[in-house]
Parts: sequence; structure tokens; C-alpha cells
Amino acid sequence: MSQTVFITGGAGFIGSALIRLLIRESDWRIVNIDKLTYAGNLESLAELGNTPRHIFSHTDICNRPALDDLFNQHRPTGVIHLAAESHVDRSIHGPGEFIQTNVTGTYELLEAARAYWNSLEGSERSGFRFHHVSTDEVFGSLGPTGLFTETNLYQPNSPYSASKAASDHLVRAWHHTYGLPTLLTNCSNNYGPCQFPEKLIPLMIHNAVSGKPLPIYGKGDNVRDWLYVDDHAKALRTVFERGVIGETYNIGGHNEKTNLEVVDTLCALLDQLQPRADGRSYIEQKISVADRPGHDRRYAIDASKIARELCWIPQESFETGMRKTVRWYLDHRDWVERVVSGEYRHWMDRNYGDRK
Ligand code: NAD
Ligand code: DAU
Repeated sequence: MSQTVFITGGAGFIGSALIRLLIRESDWRIVNIDKLTYAGNLESLAELGNTPRHIFSHTDICNRPALDDLFNQHRPTGVIHLAAESHVDRSIHGPGEFIQTNVTGTYELLEAARAYWNSLEGSERSGFRFHHVSTDEVFGSLGPTGLFTETNLYQPNSPYSASKAASDHLVRAWHHTYGLPTLLTNCSNNYGPCQFPEKLIPLMIHNAVSGKPLPIYGKGDNVRDWLYVDDHAKALRTVFERGVIGETYNIGGHNEKTNLEVVDTLCALLDQLQPRADGRSYIEQKISVADRPGHDRRYAIDASKIARELCWIPQESFETGMRKTVRWYLDHRDWVERVVSGEYRHWMDRNYGDRK
């Protein structure tokens, strides 16, 4: 019989990419646990149709009794935990939800998983895994040189990264103290289809083709290390299946770019794929705006451990991944419009109303 795996945050950007991958390429049964915040969009899973291998549960990870019921009902072989508040700017304006979901929610999920794991015996117990999905932002900001490794100091700078750092520490402690079989991954910036258009890349594509300004924070010289989302999804499956219990793995794309380089690349692709009616370049829509408070300067990942030990390397280059991404957003203007207008909530009610 195929295994059942819990994926939290499966209606979000990375969670939905992971579920699409697993339904396509494995025989696993997925229980998708998601509260459907503003960032949760089941339309990102529409291509799955009504497959019985995807079971959606409209559940808040802070709700311990509901989590206990799910563990007892579905008896999973493991959990891949992605549910989180994920946007740095939102965390600056309102950190409360970040503490609630990322810290308290992770705590409740760990406790529910521990209670269930303690009830298991034999191979069910030894095979169980709790995989926590985290970010490189927990390591703070780099100077012009150097890379984040798994042994880096934790120096989170934003409310978002501090809440993710706290959740990483809880996971570590639950392994060290209780022996819960955990795995931890810290990944760099993802991009690709179905990302909420508040993040840099989908926001810029949407604004460009809508004739709006492209707001660059500060000088635009902050550096991020970009990874195509399907490569992250493949890395998560690899670590979940073959990672060593208690270990941490960094995941990154070897694609360091300044924000200006990212936006210029996007504009050049849009100039080719959907030229402006007036024949001018989208680059003219760039504007400089006030910097993000506490803006981290540079992130860059050393992903040699996962390459060496688990043979994972990214498939997409920045060029191929960006072309695919721009193409996807141009071909799915309706997806973006429904998100921006809020219509996606009604889409979910129409299509999933009975399951929410
Ligand atoms: P996202 O914001 O697109 O999706 C988050 C999902 O979690 C949404 O579906 C939302 O409804 C759900 N959720 C939020 N609070 C919940 C709660 N209390 N209970 C249940 N579900 C809840 O995020 P994403 O970009 O897909 O990121 C997923 C994970 O990966 C996060 O843990 C994030 O920290 C981490 N991560 C993201 C990136 C990135 O570049 N996006 C990079 C590294 C790590
Ligand atoms: O590094 C991994 C992290 O990457 C994840 O943990 C986070 O969940 C994810 O949101 C992302 O965080 P960033 O803050 O790096 O991503 P964001 O897309 O918000 O911004 C990328 C860069 O672009 C950052 O330097 C800020 C800048 N920016 C962003 C926006 C939205 C702009 O210049 N203008 C903008 O309008």
C-alpha cells in the first residue's frame, strides 16, 4: 500500500508545487493541511482534479485537537511542514500572525506528531519523519563574500526570519530531547508558477503588464539566491526520503542576483514575449521607493552538502527558470487577476465549498 504523508501549507506557493510533483511522480496519498489564509489558493491544485490521493483538510496548525484527529484518522508515515506566514514586508507591519502560526503552530504540530509517533511501534515508528521546511533568512545577512552553510550562526533580522528561526530551534529541541525523527531544510528565494503577487518576481510581472510602476526598494543592489520552485520541491522529496535523521540541509540555486538584475531580466523577457503597445521597454516603468526597514543585504547558499550526500542539484538555470516563469504568468493572467481581485476566494467556494 502506498504511504500517506501530511503536507502543511499545501495550498501555498511551494506546498502546491510539491503536491503537484508528488501526485505526478509518486504513488503517495497526500493529506494537505491548510488554513487557507490570504496566501492559500486551491486553484493552484486544480490540475489534480478529484484524485483520491489528494485529501484536503481545512485546518489551522494551531488547532491541536484537530491535528490529533487527523493523525489518528490517516496514520501518516511522515509530515512535511510548510505552513507559515511567509512575507517579510507583512511581518514588519504585523508580526503577531507570524508568531502565532510559525512559532505556536509549529509547536502544536510537533506535539501532535510526537504524541502520534509515541503510539507507533516497530517499522512504523522507526520510519516516521517530521520534515520542517525553513529559510536561509534565519542566518541573517552576508557581506559581499561568503556563503551560508549548515553550521552558520543564527542571526535572524526580521520578525519573519526570527519566527522561522524560533521554529527551527523547536524542531531541533524536539529531536534532541524527545528523539522525534526530524529533518530540517533551509532554502533560498524561490520563484515560479503560482506565487502570490506580493513577492518580487510575480509582483513585477503583474505590475509591468498592467502598466504600473515597478517599485525597487532602495538602490536595488540587495542580493538574493534564486531557485526555481520545482527544484525546491524535488529537493524536499529527496530529503524526506533519504535525509539523515536530525540533520539540516541547505538548498539553493547558485543564482545570486541583485534585485535590479532580476527586474531587468524580467523586463527583457517581457519585451520579447509581450512587447508594450507603444514599442518602449518595460524597463522604463522602474521606480526607486523607500527601502525595507532592516533590509538584509545579501543571501547566498552553499548547497554542497545536499549535492554530495543526497545527489540533489538544481535542474533549472536562472535563464531557463525565468523564461518558464514569465511565460506561465503571461499564460495565466486569469489566475493572477483572480488573486489580485480577491475572486479566488469565490473560486474556492464554488469548487471546494463542500471540503472547507
Ligand atoms: P505561502 O505564503 O505561499 O503559503 C503558505 C501556506 O500556509 C498558505 O497556503 C497558507 O494558507 C498556509 N497557512 C498559513 N498559516 C497557516 C496555519 N496557521 N495553519 C495552516 N495553514 C496555514 O508560502 P511559501 O512561499 O509557499 O512558503 C512555504 C514554506 O517555505 C514556508 O514555511 C516558508 O517559510 C518556506 N520558504 C519559503 C521560501 C520562498 O522563497 N517562498 C524560501 C524558503 C523557505
Ligand atoms: O530567502 C528566502 C525567503 O525569500 C523566504 O523565506 C521568504 O518566505 C520569501 O518571501 C523570500 O523573502 P524576500 O524578502 O527575499 O523576498 P521578496 O520577494 O519579498 O523580496 C525579494 C527582494 O526584492 C528583497 O531584497 C526585497 C526586494 N523587493 C521586494 C518587493 C516585494 C523590492 O525591491 N520591491 C518589492 O516590491
